[in-house]
Amino acid sequence: MHKREAVRLDRVTKLFQRSGRASNAKNSNPGKRKRRELRALGNVDVTIGAGEIFGLVGPNGCGKSTLVRVLATLLIPDAGTASVFGHDVVSEERTVQRLINRVSVEAAFFKKLSTAENLRFAARLYALDPGEAGDRANTILKSLGFPMSRIDDSMQDLSRGMQQKVAIARGLLTEPIVMLLDEPTTGLDPKSKRDVQAFIRRIKDGHDATVLLSTHDMDEADRLCDRVAIMRNGKIIAQGTPAQLKAMCSGDGEVSLEDVFIELTGRKIEDEDEEE
Ligand SMILES: Nc1ncnc2c1ncn2[C@@H]1O[C@H](COP(=O)(O)OP(=O)(O)OP(=O)(O)O)[C@@H](O)[C@H]1O
Ligand SMILES: [Mg+2]
Repeated sequence: MHKREAVRLDRVTKLFQRSGRASNAKNSNPGKRKRRELRALGNVDVTIGAGEIFGLVGPNGCGKSTLVRVLATLLIPDAGTASVFGHDVVSEERTVQRLINRVSVEAAFFKKLSTAENLRFAARLYALDPGEAGDRANTILKSLGFPMSRIDDSMQDLSRGMQQKVAIARGLLTEPIVMLLDEPTTGLDPKSKRDVQAFIRRIKDGHDATVLLSTHDMDEADRLCDRVAIMRNGKIIAQGTPAQLKAMCSGDGEVSLEDVFIELTGRKIEDEDEEE
C-alpha cells in the first residue's frame, strides 16, 4: 500500500553549544580538547506516511525531543531538511505550524488561570469559535478521564497528570493533521495511560491524522505504533515495524521490544563519539 508522505527528515543535524566552564584547564591539551559542541541529531533520516503512528524511542538525551522540536519549527536544523506534507519547516514555517501541533510533558500554561481559562485562551489564539472549541475541549477532557469538577481550579493546583491531560486537550483543539506527541503518557497512572493511548488510536482512526509519538514505554510503542525508530546518541540505529525490530534480536522464547531496546542501545559502538 502506497501512502502519502506526511513527515520527512533528510540528513538532519542539530548541534548545541555546550555551556559551562571547561574543567581542569591546566591539563587541557589543545589537541585533545573536549568538544564544546554537542551533536543532538546527526544526519537523521525519517519518513512517516500519512495516517501512520510512528514511535520514537531511545535513552534519555538521545535526541527525541530535539527531533520533535525541529518538526514543530521550534529549532532550526544546522544541516539537512525537514518537511511536513512537502512544506519546509524553515522556509514555510507558518504553513507547517498550521498542520502540526505538539504536546510535550513540559507544557506551558498560565498557572494561576484555570483549565477552562487556559483552553479559552488557546481557542482565541487559534481563532476558533469559542462555543465549539469549548464543547470540543470538554469532550476530549472527559474521554481522558479529567475530573470535570476541577475545570475551574487554578492549573497550579492540579496534579501533573491532570495538567498533562489539559495539554493533550489543548493540542487537539485545532484538529491538527500531524500530532507531535512527546512522551504524552509519561507519569500517568495506568488507567489514565490507557485513556490517552485509546485516544491516540482514535486520532489516527477517526481523523486520519499522522502521529509521531515519543515514549519510554516499550509496550506502548509495540501496541500502538505502526513503525518504531530506536535512537541513540542523535542517530537512528534501527527502525521498522515492531515485528521487524523484534525479529532483529535472537533469543530463546518470545522477544519483546524492550529486549530489542536493551540489546541495541546497550551495545558498545566503536565510532560512537567520532566526528563524521
Ligand atoms: N537547548 C539546549 N541546549 C544545549 N543542549 C541541549 C538543548 N536541548 C537539548 N540539548 C541536549 O541535546 C541532547 C538531546 O536532548 P533531547 O532533549 O532531545 O533528548 P531526549 O531523547 O528527548 O531525552 P529524554 O528521554 O530525557 O526526554 C541532550 O544531550 C541534551 O542535553
Ligand atoms: Mg525528551
